[in-house]
Amino acid sequence: MIERVSEIEKQAAAEISAASSSSELEALRVQYLGRKAELPQLLRDVSQLPPEQRGEAGKAANQARQGLEALLEARAALFEVEEMTASLAEDSVDVTLPGSPAESRGHHHLLSATRREIEDVFCGLGYSVVEGPEVESVHYNFDALNHDPAHPARGRSDTFYVEGGGEGADQILLRTHTSPMQVRIMEQTPPPIALIVPGRVFRRDSDATHTPQFHQIEGLLVDEGVTLADLKGTLLAFARAIFGEERELRLRPHFFPFTEPSVEVDVSCFMCSGGALPGGDRCSLCKGTGWLEVLGSGMVDPNVFAAVSEHGYDPDTHQGFAFGLGIERIAMLKHGVPDLRFFYENDLRFLRQFG
Ligand code: PHE
Repeated sequence: MIERVSEIEKQAAAEISAASSSSELEALRVQYLGRKAELPQLLRDVSQLPPEQRGEAGKAANQARQGLEALLEARAALFEVEEMTASLAEDSVDVTLPGSPAESRGHHHLLSATRREIEDVFCGLGYSVVEGPEVESVHYNFDALNHDPAHPARGRSDTFYVEGGGEGADQILLRTHTSPMQVRIMEQTPPPIALIVPGRVFRRDSDATHTPQFHQIEGLLVDEGVTLADLKGTLLAFARAIFGEERELRLRPHFFPFTEPSVEVDVSCFMCSGGALPGGDRCSLCKGTGWLEVLGSGMVDPNVFAAVSEHGYDPDTHQGFAFGLGIERIAMLKHGVPDLRFFYENDLRFLRQFG
């Protein structure tokens, strides 16, 4: 019997040492130490041996069982660590991977993106951003901005008036430009000031290049000793930030009731050189002129300062410049958008090009 015990022990120890997983170990445990296995059976049979053999045989069988149990335990502990490490590696989740299916990411509408881009440029130059009412009075939209009583923009064919909305200067309308904010700002804030005013404006117009509602950004800077050169330098910085560092500016004399002198500002075309494409063809963006009209501006008219003189604006000591640009126009030029109406149709095939 002692020989058989040691045979079993040897064989079991060899197999346990060769096992390659905890499930194999478990099978070996059942095979050699389970209830129906030979070694426990031998242990149970010890009591039937002649008394003088019992001590030695019992001791041998017990030691064999304890030895095998210890071996099984040691191997099991090893596999536990190995298998845990493997399963951790297998189950690990890369939280930086996109979800499944990958979620598409939204983006700003081209007009919002363009407005923000322009705001960034002027914030960088120290300007603040303010907004104002879309529903205005004749006083702020026209009178305080020095519009002649017969100015054509006042006509019902050009401007949306609100029915029953007051008389004369108090008549209510949808603002036709962001310029009324020039006056509102100066009424509220003493000089020096530097602000831009983005917002919606409304005109009775509708075709490929005009919609009844569009967006402008007004700019206003007032201080002492401000000149047209400051205006040009500011707008040059703007043009270069938006259209490229190579850009130049051209100022053309113009007329606005609330600026004097007034200028229309052109930026050198970024698609061509002097109106001609590299192959010699006429540039279609600037129509061969080499210049793109981008905004209206000028030095604040003394009559506008006079309307706010009680708020610290004295035409004898203060000068300022103002400008107004169309956000749609800037976006169309910069991105080659051929029809203004694309901005409002919300066709995703159009919008997604500007993500
Ligand atoms: N308000 C003018 C327009 O809508 C633009 C402008 C703003 C011109 C400020 C001069 C100064 O056409």
